[in-house]
Amino acid sequence: MTILGAAIIGCGAIAPLHAKAIAAQSGGQLLAAVDIDVAKAAVFGEEYGCGALTDYKELLNRSDIDIVHLCTPHDLHAQMAVDLLQAGKHVLTEKPMAVDLPSAQRMLKAAEHSKGQLGIVFQNRYNEPSIKIKETIESGVLGPLVCMKGVVTWYRSPEYYKESNWRGKWTSEGGGVLINQTIHTLDLLQWFGGEISSVQGSVSTDVLDGVIEVEDTAHACINFRNKVRGLFYGSNAYLVNSPVELEIVFEQGTLLLRRDCLYLWKDGRETLLSEPGVSGIQGKSYWGTGHQRLIHDFYDHVREGRPFWIDGSEGLKTLELIAGIYSSSGIEKKTHPWQTAPSN
Ligand SMILES: NC(=O)c1ccc[n+]([C@@H]2O[C@H](COP(=O)([O-])OP(=O)(O)OC[C@H]3O[C@@H](n4cnc5c(N)ncnc54)[C@H](O)[C@@H]3O)[C@@H](O)[C@H]2O)c1
Repeated sequence: MTILGAAIIGCGAIAPLHAKAIAAQSGGQLLAAVDIDVAKAAVFGEEYGCGALTDYKELLNRSDIDIVHLCTPHDLHAQMAVDLLQAGKHVLTEKPMAVDLPSAQRMLKAAEHSKGQLGIVFQNRYNEPSIKIKETIESGVLGPLVCMKGVVTWYRSPEYYKESNWRGKWTSEGGGVLINQTIHTLDLLQWFGGEISSVQGSVSTDVLDGVIEVEDTAHACINFRNKVRGLFYGSNAYLVNSPVELEIVFEQGTLLLRRDCLYLWKDGRETLLSEPGVSGIQGKSYWGTGHQRLIHDFYDHVREGRPFWIDGSEGLKTLELIAGIYSSSGIEKKTHPWQTAPSN
């Protein structure tokens, strides 16, 4: 089997999950860890047995590096991805792919002209309930999809924003709860529902005013072309990280995700369809535990020369949904970059 050489840029909170996933397969080897903070790069390199660098541009001419994982602040993803794709590297970027739509488009263009692939980390698509919901929609076994509801109520403390100073700011985070925490659930809703025809959203800062510039709470009504409607509520203003809740209503039954268990409600009876197993897969449960599965799948696609399915265009769809929520919410033009998003 071809061993793909890997590098991780950004040695912060999420990076260990990537390093462990690379190590947990036989087809990849972590060769370099890059962080602008020299001490962080060194500690990470020591821990995962790879080289340590401070400038990602040193990766561009390295023939031993095939895949680069972007685990950096949001506003850095686009330029790094473009540079790496232009150098022929495969890029797996953490969500969101970018902090505005033009940057995301630049990434798509770079991927189009590169021998490298661009993959986006939406690991919740690999959760068993997500796969079952998607299969139920596609098989039509419960009849047509009617409407969907997604609820994310999490807690992010003021300390969380102080730990990494790019968080909580329009320029570097690109938004708040929408673009950072609830992006996974919005991605699932757009994946399930298909093409979106209009969005009406609302955002507010309910408890973190003075700590962050961006929103900590948002809701949206999402209308899909096929007449399906999605309602969404997300907030970092809760006091615990509750499991994501989904309700997917079909003409002949309803799928419910509660406490990571998927239930079918049909003919007045509830049936358990799936529950979290003891899979040994790493990841905080409220992040979803599909990181390792997604990373291994990306490597398999690269090795076999097959296009990875969660590519730049998939990342862009979710970013467009987020842009639609921001631009319809009427927040002050001067404070955020999303008013340039296409209006709906
Ligand atoms: N998929 C998920 O569920 C999930 C969960 C958490 C975080 N994330 C994503 O992972 C990314 C990183 O988040 P985090 O929480 O690990 O952030 P973090 O602040 O903990 O880590 C970011 C690291 O990037 C480094 N960095 C900053 N500028 C750099 C540069 N120019 N070159 C190299 N390194 C640089 C910082 O020094 C820091 O170590 C974000 O996109 C975030 O949204 C995804």
